[in-house]
Amino acid sequence: MLKNGKKMEGEEDEAAAGGGGGGNTVNDAELDEKIHGDFLISKKKIYLNNGSVGPVPISTVKAITDFYLRYSEQGPDSTESNEYLENLKMETRRRVADLINCDSDEIIFTSSTTEGINFVTNGIAWGVNDRILLRNSKSEHFSNYLPWIKAANDNDLQIERFPFENENMVIEDLTKLMESPPSPSPSPRFPRIVSTSHVMYNNGSITPIEKMGSIIKKKNKKTLFSIDGAQSVGAIEVDVKKIKCDFLSFPAFKWICGPLGIGVLYVNKKVMNDEFEPVFVGSGTAQTESIKEGKDNIKGGSSANKKQETLKYYKYPQKYHSTFRNYPGLAGLESSIRYLLRIGISNICKKNKKLSNIFRGEISKIKEIAIHEASEESMRSSMVSFSFRNNNNNRVKILIEKLQEKGIILAEREIGMKKIVRASPHFYNTENEIIKTINEIKIITSKI
Ligand SMILES: Cc1ncc(COP(=O)(O)O)c(C=O)c1O
Repeated sequence: MLKNGKKMEGEEDEAAAGGGGGGNTVNDAELDEKIHGDFLISKKKIYLNNGSVGPVPISTVKAITDFYLRYSEQGPDSTESNEYLENLKMETRRRVADLINCDSDEIIFTSSTTEGINFVTNGIAWGVNDRILLRNSKSEHFSNYLPWIKAANDNDLQIERFPFENENMVIEDLTKLMESPPSPSPSPRFPRIVSTSHVMYNNGSITPIEKMGSIIKKKNKKTLFSIDGAQSVGAIEVDVKKIKCDFLSFPAFKWICGPLGIGVLYVNKKVMNDEFEPVFVGSGTAQTESIKEGKDNIKGGSSANKKQETLKYYKYPQKYHSTFRNYPGLAGLESSIRYLLRIGISNICKKNKKLSNIFRGEISKIKEIAIHEASEESMRSSMVSFSFRNNNNNRVKILIEKLQEKGIILAEREIGMKKIVRASPHFYNTENEIIKTINEIKIITSKI
C-alpha cells in the first residue's frame, strides 16, 4: 500500500523493473504456485467469465480496506488526507501509464469503458459532415456503438462501417474507406475518427489495431483513432504508442481484476490540448474570465458594455475531472495493476492462451457444437465462444443454467440474433478447471 504516495518497505517496483509487460518469464506451474489462494472465487467456483467482470485478488481487497481505515483515522478533509489522496492519484496514474505506455498526465479516470467512450463522443468538437468509421453492430459491443450513433444524430455526422471477416479485409476496407467518402461533396476527404474494439466481446477476435493505426496516420495524421480496450487491457499487451491511437477506454473491473466503478480513458495530450472539450465542468476544472462584448441595450434606453463570462480551463488532465471522487477505486486499481505487473502481462497472456487452446481443442471434438472465432490463429484472444448446430438458443440457455448449478460460470452472449456461450479464462484459472468444465459440458450437452 502507499504511504504518502511512496512505496512501503519491501515493496518492489514491478512496473519499473519490467516495463509495460512487467515480470520475469515464469512457467505455468510457477505461475499457479505464485498466485495460489489469491482469488477467493477459486475456492468455491470455476469462474470462466472474466470478460464480464473479473474477481479482485485479496491484496486489492486489503488495499481498499487500508484506504478506508487510513482515511477514517486521518479525518476525511484534513491536510494529511488531502495529501494522501493527491499522492494516490499520482501513483495510480503512474501505474496506468506503465501498463499502457503513455505519460501520467494523459490519463482521465472514469467509471467504466462506456463512460470513457461517451466522454469522447461528446467531447470532440465536431465539424459539419464529419465522417465516423465504425464496425457494425453485430461485432461491436453496444457500448462502443450507441454513443457514436447518438453523436452522429446529434451533430449531423456521417457513419460508415468497415467489415469484420478477416485481417486482410479490415485492412483493405480501411485503406479504401479512408480516402473515399460515400457521397463526394461536401464530405471531408478523410474521416474525423475511426473507432473499433481491440478484442470483440462476442467471438473474441483481435482487431489488428497496430496495422490500422499505421494506415490511418499514414493517410492522414489528423484522423483520430479511438479504441475500446474493455476486452484487452490486462489480458494482452497494449501499447498506445505502437497503436498510434488517440483514445483508449477500458475498465478496471474486467481483465485488470480491479474494483467495480472505476475505469480509464487515455487521451493523447496533443488531442487534449487541441480538440477535446470536457463534458462536465465544475469546481477544479476551470476559472471564469470576463470579456467585453460591445454595447447592449438596457431598460430605460441607456446602453452599457455587455460583459460575457467565459471559461478558461485548467491544464489537462485536471480539466476533465470535475466529478471524480472514487479514491477507494483508485486504491484498488493501483493495487491490481501492481499485482498484474508483478506477474507480467506476457506471462498472463501466455497462460490464458494455453487455457483457451485446451478449451478450444476439447470443445471442437463435440459434434453438436460450432466454435465462433477468427480464422487466423494470431487473431484469437483467450475468449472462446461456441453455439449448438441445432435448437441453439434454447440449448445455450439451458447449458449456462446447468453449469451454474455445478458452480461453473460462463456467459451467455450473442452474435446478431444467435445466442452463444462464451468462456473467458484468466491467468488464475487452472488446466484442471478447464478439463472439469469440458467434462460437464459434454455430459449436459448429451442430455439437452
Ligand atoms: C467490448 C466492450 N466494450 C464495452 C463494454 C462495456 O464495458 P463497461 O462495463 O466498462 O462500460 C464491454 C463489456 O462487456 C465490452 O465487452
